[in-house]
Amino acid sequence: MDIQHLRTLFPITGERVFLNHAVTSPIPLPTYEAMQAYLEERLLQGNTSYDDEHNPLTEARERAAQLIGARPEEIAIVRNTSHGILLVAGGLEWRPGDNVVCAETEFPATVYPWRSLANRGVEVRIVPAKDYRVPLDGLREAIDNRTRVVSISFVEFFTGYRNDLAAIAQMTHEAGAYLCVDAIQGLGAIDLNVEETGIDFLSAGAFKWLLGPSGAGIFYCRQERLNDLDHAVLGYDGAQREPGDYFTLDLPWKQDASRFEEGVLAFGSVVGLAASLKLLLDVGVPSIQARVLELTGYLLEQLEGKQVEIITPHDHPGERSGIVSFIPQGQDPVELVERMGKENIIVSQRGPAVRVSPHFYNTFEEIDQVLEFIP
Ligand SMILES: Cc1ncc(COP(=O)(O)O)c(C=O)c1O
Repeated sequence: MDIQHLRTLFPITGERVFLNHAVTSPIPLPTYEAMQAYLEERLLQGNTSYDDEHNPLTEARERAAQLIGARPEEIAIVRNTSHGILLVAGGLEWRPGDNVVCAETEFPATVYPWRSLANRGVEVRIVPAKDYRVPLDGLREAIDNRTRVVSISFVEFFTGYRNDLAAIAQMTHEAGAYLCVDAIQGLGAIDLNVEETGIDFLSAGAFKWLLGPSGAGIFYCRQERLNDLDHAVLGYDGAQREPGDYFTLDLPWKQDASRFEEGVLAFGSVVGLAASLKLLLDVGVPSIQARVLELTGYLLEQLEGKQVEIITPHDHPGERSGIVSFIPQGQDPVELVERMGKENIIVSQRGPAVRVSPHFYNTFEEIDQVLEFIP
């Protein structure tokens, strides 16, 4: 990986030490240029000139499929992570007494869509964390024969803990339930293959590790599960319409996941998502993952012996990700993050912890700059 060359695609590297991809990422230059070209066309031509051969929406679906080892027909482009999870929550048929299993360390987006089913008698079970991990035995205990969905993050937003999705898929399927994954904190930085893992549904907004804009995201629905989401709210773009036919009002639904794209999307964001996915695929996610784990591994190593409590589980690389969180001892995390910000070093504070989240184009020297603030 030619880091010096890749850094030229991220002009932010000349402005600040940006280690905050768990919040929002900077968009790379090719993404900016693609979005700018789209806006210019809208500005000067009104319409866009996309055709079937070159259409950012098709490209975004194809590239997203390639990224996660799915088929393009299993991908819908959605507004954000929540939208994809809501498609599952709204799409399944629920009976009073059903339950959904979540974990204590989840970001609210992974939990609230299921809580909204309370009026249909659906219970949400929250599995307590253990040593900042989501314990497999805790999940196993919570799952029973009324569990319909296990809803969990690929990478936990606060701790950076990477769940063992293959093991979770296995126990979920043994109970006859679906695995729904919020992948926004991992996808783009950590390799994930939905086929090998056995995930049923996955959703991830573009604006974090996928290096894309807000307003677009990826929703994966395993082909065999498409008709299980029968109750999802579908719109006119979900119907099998011939191009130009705006007159037939009783068309059947599309037979692939694009049926969930209900109408016109935030197209500038779709253009950006397609461009960012291309960059990630060109660099290669296995190389990106290796680099991200090296950077966060180095940070963890250097934090040992410093005045911090590391809360990111790091017994082995398989449970790590692009996120490292630690509680500073004797320093207020808000003030610490502010002091770093004044020196143009961008990290975030979450609760009592400081969260550092580098992507592949960051350097060990940039990590050293963070370490200088911690005695
Ligand atoms: C785990 C997780 N899920 C979802 C989101 C965001 O959800 P959405 O894309 O719906 O805004 C975040 C952070 O913003 C997150 O950390």
